[in-house]
Amino acid sequence: MQPYLIAPSILSADFARLGDDVKAVLDAGADVVHFDVMDNHYVPNLTIGPMVCTALRNYGITADIDVHLMVKPVDRIIPDFAKAGASIITFHPEASEHVDRTLQLIKESGCKAGLVFNPATPLHYLDHVMDKLDVILLMSVNPGFGGQSFIPSTLDKLRQVRERIDASGYDIRLEVDGGVKVDNIAEIAAAGADMFVAGSAIFSQPDYKTVIDEMRSELAK
Ligand code: DX5
Ligand code: ZN
Repeated sequence: MQPYLIAPSILSADFARLGDDVKAVLDAGADVVHFDVMDNHYVPNLTIGPMVCTALRNYGITADIDVHLMVKPVDRIIPDFAKAGASIITFHPEASEHVDRTLQLIKESGCKAGLVFNPATPLHYLDHVMDKLDVILLMSVNPGFGGQSFIPSTLDKLRQVRERIDASGYDIRLEVDGGVKVDNIAEIAAAGADMFVAGSAIFSQPDYKTVIDEMRSELAK
C-alpha cells in the first residue's frame, strides 16, 4: 500500500482568508488539498468553482488539489478545472450520462481521475473501468455538508473496495470522505483506506499541526 495521505477539506476552512488557511494547513503537514465543488442541484449546497482553484494556484499553493465534483452534469466543468490547476478530479457516476467518457475526459485533460460512491451507491459502477481509475472515493456521509457523523457501514464497503483494488493489480488510491476524526481514522485505515479527507476535524481546531500529528500517530499504530 502507498503511504497514507491526509487531505483537509477546505469546505471547513475560513473562506474570507482562504489562501492563508490553505497554506497553514499544508505547513501543518497536510498532503493534499480537498476541494469540494457543490452546485445546489446534485447536492443541496453551493460552494466554489474553478476561479477559486486558479486563485489558490496564483497564491502559491503547489500541493496537489483534489477536486471533488458534486455537480450534475459533470463534463463541461472538467476542462475548466484542469486549466485551473486541479491535480485529481473525482465525480459521482450517477451524475454522469457516460461514466467511461467522463473518466477519459479527465485523463485527457491531464488530471488523475476517480469515481465517488455515496453511502447507498452500489459498487457495480467499478465493473468495467478499473483500468481508468487513479482514485476510488467512498463517501462516509451523504454529500453536501461538512460536520456530519461517519456512517459505520462504510467500513464494510471499504473492505470490499480494498479487495477489488488489490485483486485488480492497479495502482488505485482508496479515499474516504466524511466524518473522519482522530478517534476513528485508525479503524478506517484498517478497513483499507489510504487517503483521508477531514474537514471539520482539522479546521475546527486552533492548531492544525496538533490534530494532523495525532491523525498520523493513530495511522502508525
Ligand atoms: C461533503 C464533503 C466533504 C466534507 C467533509 O459533501 O464532500 O469533503 O467537507 O467534512 P467533514 O470532515 O467535516 O465530514
Ligand atoms: Zn469531499
